[in-house]
Amino acid sequence: MATAAVDQVFAREIEHVTDFTFDETVAGVFDDMVSRSVPMYAEIQRMLAELAAAFATEGSNIYDLGCSTGTTLALLHDQLTVRANLIGIDNSAEMLEQCRSKLAARNLTQAIDLRLADLDHGIALENASVVMLVLTLMFVRPLHRERLMRQIHSSMNENGCLLVVEKVLGDGSLFNRLFIERYYAYKRRRGYTELEIAQKREALENVLVPYRLHENRELFLNAGFREVEVFFKWYNFAGFVAVK
Ligand SMILES: C[S@@+](CC[C@H](N)C(=O)[O-])C[C@H]1O[C@@H](n2cnc3c(N)ncnc32)[C@H](O)[C@@H]1O
Repeated sequence: MATAAVDQVFAREIEHVTDFTFDETVAGVFDDMVSRSVPMYAEIQRMLAELAAAFATEGSNIYDLGCSTGTTLALLHDQLTVRANLIGIDNSAEMLEQCRSKLAARNLTQAIDLRLADLDHGIALENASVVMLVLTLMFVRPLHRERLMRQIHSSMNENGCLLVVEKVLGDGSLFNRLFIERYYAYKRRRGYTELEIAQKREALENVLVPYRLHENRELFLNAGFREVEVFFKWYNFAGFVAVK
């Protein structure tokens, strides 16, 4: 297996930092970027696969919205004990291209269906036992999040499971600031320079809009999910599991 190209997207000084996009440059280094930018990324992925497998039902659909390079779907494929259809959706053709290559290298091309679609325009899913949004809801415009969650909920089977991982804000500025400082210290430990951290932060400012933990919980409950639990928390990152 080829090792992921090293993320140097923000390594050089950029005169005018523009909004972050999942373009070809990002897609080419995404696996390195995400594993050095999200604390405990591998463990989160492992947990997602085992939680999703616990709720997957025979003949149902399992969706990964914002599937990127297919890391979650590939892991889940190996964990499934029932026959269910794995479907990855993303609005970046370049990310889906990387996903296709990765799945092909693992002989999973036939096992996983990939679709290009924009969650900001709403989504039509069906017969879903599991829907995952891993580090993706925070990129959906806040204006569209309620509608998206209602659409997801209505497409899901009874006892279906929603899995969401997000960057979250602290309730107050004291802990918010402290958690973000600790997060940047984590990024420095993973080899990112101050320049890289600052430029990426600027690029993400208008496109990554995190909610507070309780705002996410309310979003899921208001969409109709009957139980919501936090399965992962690290400073400004949280993982939620909800059941219809
Ligand atoms: C941080 S990545 C997700 C990481 C991935 N789920 C994982 O576990 O490694 C966010 C992904 O969401 C996709 N995305 C962002 N906004 C989207 C939208 N409005 N509709 C569909 N996909 C979107 C991006 O192209 C990107 O691949």
